[in-house]
Amino acid sequence: MRITSALVDPALLELPWPTPLEDWPADHLVALPQGISRHVVRFVRLDGTVYAAKETRERIAEREYDLLRALERLGAPAVEAVAIVADRVAADGEHLEPVLVTRHLQFSLPYRAVFSHTLRPETMNRLLDALAALLVRLHLLGFFWGDCSLSNTLFRRDAGAFAAYLVDAETGALHLRLSNGQRDEDLEIARTNIFGESLDLQAAGLLHEAIDPEQVSDEVVRRYETLWHELTHEEKVEKDTRRNMERRIRRLNEMGFDVEEVSMSVVDSQIHIRPKVVDAGHHTRRLLRLTGLDAEENQARRLLNDLDAYRAESDLADESQAAHRWLTEVFEPVVRAVPGPLRRKLEPPELFVQIIEHRFHLSEKAGRDVGLAPAVQSFLNDVLVHRPDEQAILGYDADDDDSEETVSPEL
Ligand SMILES: Nc1ncnc2c1ncn2[C@@H]1O[C@H](COP(=O)(O)OP(=O)(O)OP(=O)(O)O)[C@@H](O)[C@H]1O
Ligand SMILES: [Mg+2]
Repeated sequence: MRITSALVDPALLELPWPTPLEDWPADHLVALPQGISRHVVRFVRLDGTVYAAKETRERIAEREYDLLRALERLGAPAVEAVAIVADRVAADGEHLEPVLVTRHLQFSLPYRAVFSHTLRPETMNRLLDALAALLVRLHLLGFFWGDCSLSNTLFRRDAGAFAAYLVDAETGALHLRLSNGQRDEDLEIARTNIFGESLDLQAAGLLHEAIDPEQVSDEVVRRYETLWHELTHEEKVEKDTRRNMERRIRRLNEMGFDVEEVSMSVVDSQIHIRPKVVDAGHHTRRLLRLTGLDAEENQARRLLNDLDAYRAESDLADESQAAHRWLTEVFEPVVRAVPGPLRRKLEPPELFVQIIEHRFHLSEKAGRDVGLAPAVQSFLNDVLVHRPDEQAILGYDADDDDSEETVSPEL
């Protein structure tokens, strides 16, 4: 047996590698919902970290491992590759296929779990937005996916929206940049896959009656095109170049994208400007820099709004000082106010965002600001207790339940 890994967790060595994944004993496994896949995928927990193990052919495992590592270096939203375990030999001398180990994406939902009941069309739209944005981000980085689909994507909640992550990079390829032809090809693959998956959902009665499968797949493509255009189109400006340029950059930042450089050219005495968008995560990066909190883009936007309001109210000129005070005097006490058993329901940034939202609604109803502390209490007592336990839904049972069948893939 041979393990290739950037950072081998010695606990990985304890797993029963000479046994085919299909026959792994339940005591190593964690029951988590998973998407539809050709390969056998198993989830295991070692020292509190959950990993996904996928049995696949040698070439494919290596390729996917390298691609996922490259995507990680580029900051792309994808699952993290941890190791390849190759040269597995069973007790009877039979050679077993290598295993690709990735870190399980916490709080993530495969689309089957998101669709465990019929979604309102509005929720569906947010899901499609997240998927389109993921494909745009990957294309901006020069990544051709080759198999974009709902089941090759994982979704995390993000302040009322979703953030999408790539989970299956097997068919991908990284280029310096993608041609329009390559992007179109990738989009067509996505369209076909998503159409098929929507038909399946419809057959299972999980698609809202107002939603047509063909419309779903066309909609992803349309959303992709709109976003791509917004991010990359060349703008003709007559005058006020500087202001126009600033406005465009600000709009892109607002949408969560960072601009690295702007190219300008003069054609027939008209100025053309085109920004080079580097990546999404504008607010995520600012929040991380200021507070060390790692949140999704929309969560980060909301948290930063709260932080900025706090800074204005407390008259603190220094941004990092204000951020530190906000973190220790506002954010952390709110998170700590959640009693242990309720902690697994939502991850801290999402919890905080929902509390801000709750405070807003309570205040609207009362016709005055109800204040943070009463809003927290009301959220815990009236809202959070009634919520399904998101981590338990995802299989992390309170009492370390690891029997394999407790959660069905369809939930
Ligand atoms: N790191 C991870 N975190 C969370 N879930 C994961 C992870 N890795 C795999 N999964 C789950 O396992 C499923 C199958 O993984 P994957 O798509 O890589 O397998 P596959 O057999 O290569 O799929 P395909 O049939 O598309 O080739 C995913 O849909 C996802 O639900
Ligand atoms: Mg797959």
